[in-house]
Amino acid sequence: MALFASSTRDVPTISAVPRHVAIIMDGNGRWAKKRLLPRFAGHRRGVETVRATVKGCLERGIEYLTLFAFSSENWRRPQEEVSLLMQLFVRALKEEVTRLDRNGVRLRVVGDLTRFDPDLQALIRSSEQRTAANNRLILTVAANYGGRWDMLQAVNKMLLGDPEKRVPWTENDLTPYLSMSYAPEPDLFIRTGGEQRISNFLLWQLAYSELYFTDVLWPEFDEAAFDGALTWYRQRERRFGRTSEQLEAGAPTVLPQGCV
Ligand code: IPE
Ligand code: IPE
Ligand code: MG
Repeated sequence: MALFASSTRDVPTISAVPRHVAIIMDGNGRWAKKRLLPRFAGHRRGVETVRATVKGCLERGIEYLTLFAFSSENWRRPQEEVSLLMQLFVRALKEEVTRLDRNGVRLRVVGDLTRFDPDLQALIRSSEQRTAANNRLILTVAANYGGRWDMLQAVNKMLLGDPEKRVPWTENDLTPYLSMSYAPEPDLFIRTGGEQRISNFLLWQLAYSELYFTDVLWPEFDEAAFDGALTWYRQRERRFGRTSEQLEAGAPTVLPQGCV
C-alpha cells in the first residue's frame, strides 16, 4: 500500500497552504550576467535564496520542499562550471546542515549519486543521517536527478522485486520504488527564470501539480515573490478530473471501486 494518495487513483486532500512545493531554481547565470559577474556568482547568490526559502517554508507550515539543484543534463555544461557547482554543493552541505538540524529540517538527496565524487557521496549520506530524526520540514535536494532516470530505476527495481509476477503491474506496484516515495506529490511547482518547461524534473509526480512560472531570477526570488506564488496557488481550483459543479456539491475524495 502506497504511503500517500496517488492523484490519479484517489483525490488527495488539499489545503490553502501547499503541503509540498517543488522548485526549479533557474536564472542564476542570467542574474550574474546582468551584473557583469561570472555565472558562479549567481549560483553562490542562489544558495542564499535557498536558505530564505527554507525559512519561508518553516514559517508557513509547508511540510515538503523539493529543490532541483543539478539535473542529469547539467553535466553538459562547461567542465569548470560543473566543478564549481560541485564545490558549492559541498560547501553548502557543510555550512547549512547544523542550521537545518537546529530548525527540525530533515535533508534528503535524490538522484543518481553514483556519479559524484566518493567524498561528496559520503558527505550527503552523513548530512542525511544527521537530520534523519527531524520532521518539521522535509527538504529534498534533487542532484544528478532526471525524471526519466527516476521512472526507469523504479521500473527496474519493481521488475526485479517480483520477476515471476503474471498479473498486470499497477501504479501501486511502481510508486514505492520512485525516489520520492516518502513524500506526497507536489501541490505546487514553481519555476523561476522565465522558461516554461519541466526540464526532466519530477515527471511522474507532477501529474496534477499546479504549475507556476515566474520571470523572477532565482537569486531575486524573495519572500514577496514566494508569497505571490502561494497566493496564486490558493486561487486555483484543483479538480483532478472532476467538474466545478461536483466540487461545489462536495464530491467525495475517494474514487469509486474499479477506477484505475
Ligand atoms: C540554475 O541556474 C542553476 C543550475 C542549473 C545549477 P542556471 O545556471 O541555469 O541559470 P541561467 O538559466 O543560465 O540563467
Ligand atoms: C534546470 O535548469 C535544472 C536545474 C535548475 C537544476 P536548466 O537551466 O539546466 O534547464 P534548461 O537546460 O534551460 O532546460
Ligand atoms: Mg538555466
